[in-house]
Amino acid sequence: MTDRASATAELSTDDPLTQPFRGASPYDEYVRATLLNNLQQPLTEAADEMGFLITTQVMELWFTLIVYEWRAARDAFRADELDAAMDALMRSRRGLKALNESWAPIASLTPVQFNGFRAAFGKASGFQSAMQRHMEFLIGQKSAALLRAHSGDPYVHKGLSEAHEEPSLYDEVLNFLHRRGYPVPEHVRERDVTAPYESDPGVVEVWRRIYAGPQHHPLLRLGELLTDVAEAITRWRLDHVMVVRRAMGAKPGSAGSAGVKYLEERAAIAVFPELWEARGAV
Ligand code: HEM
Repeated sequence: MTDRASATAELSTDDPLTQPFRGASPYDEYVRATLLNNLQQPLTEAADEMGFLITTQVMELWFTLIVYEWRAARDAFRADELDAAMDALMRSRRGLKALNESWAPIASLTPVQFNGFRAAFGKASGFQSAMQRHMEFLIGQKSAALLRAHSGDPYVHKGLSEAHEEPSLYDEVLNFLHRRGYPVPEHVRERDVTAPYESDPGVVEVWRRIYAGPQHHPLLRLGELLTDVAEAITRWRLDHVMVVRRAMGAKPGSAGSAGVKYLEERAAIAVFPELWEARGAV
């Protein structure tokens, strides 16, 4: 039998742990929890809006982490540091897993539940997420039109312009493979990096060679890690389609697109396309 105090583990006022903090706690100074937890301002009384808003905010945070890791991976490839690049890609893979699991609170909204707050946010749409565009630019899905859409907001536009003008993570992977002796065509290495990346037969052949070769080769592991990343991105897009189809069927989107049809087309865009095409040639 334990005595009552230890059974409840109650802390007393003279316990060092419970001495008052001076101002904000060290936790709050570091995590900014008070600030973060005051960023939820639903526009309606609808029961489901808070879950929708927080899910969206949480996803924005995961986008930020993923961008951070992909930039780290890209810089490491540029410096020929394969181990550091793989570490960053593995961290991003965990972030993507968490991102994809974040749909849960809104995964089964009914049209009436969604209609309960939809009109209140007007033309707001994830379509306008600058951090999502940052992710797309980093994987090579560049778009001058989507960059231009943010030109009215100088801070956001500056960050996005840089990502648009810099080589993508995938560009740096291909440059790295070339320096490792793989014949990545010159027109791919010298390409205009502000243009959307398009599949190239020479790069398919590079990956085919890697995949057909020794099965424990470090560059095959790299190919698989990039494939995991590509698959996770596409899964996020497909889950988004499913959530949207449940919540609003074939209605147009709040940003003005055709809604589900538009999202299905976007989800069909292959990420790191040659990694998928090479599989058919091994
Ligand atoms: C009930 C939940 C949701 C619905 C019904 C919905 C609906 C839509 C629709 C219809 C579009 C197409 C653009 C438009 O015309 O508005 C879109 C785009 C987008 N949404 Fe959502 N969305 C939901 C949740 C989310 C969440 C939680 C996020 C996370 C940030 C998100 C991020 C995005 C992004 C990034 C796009 C742009 C996709 C692209 O252009 O490829 N959405 N959404």
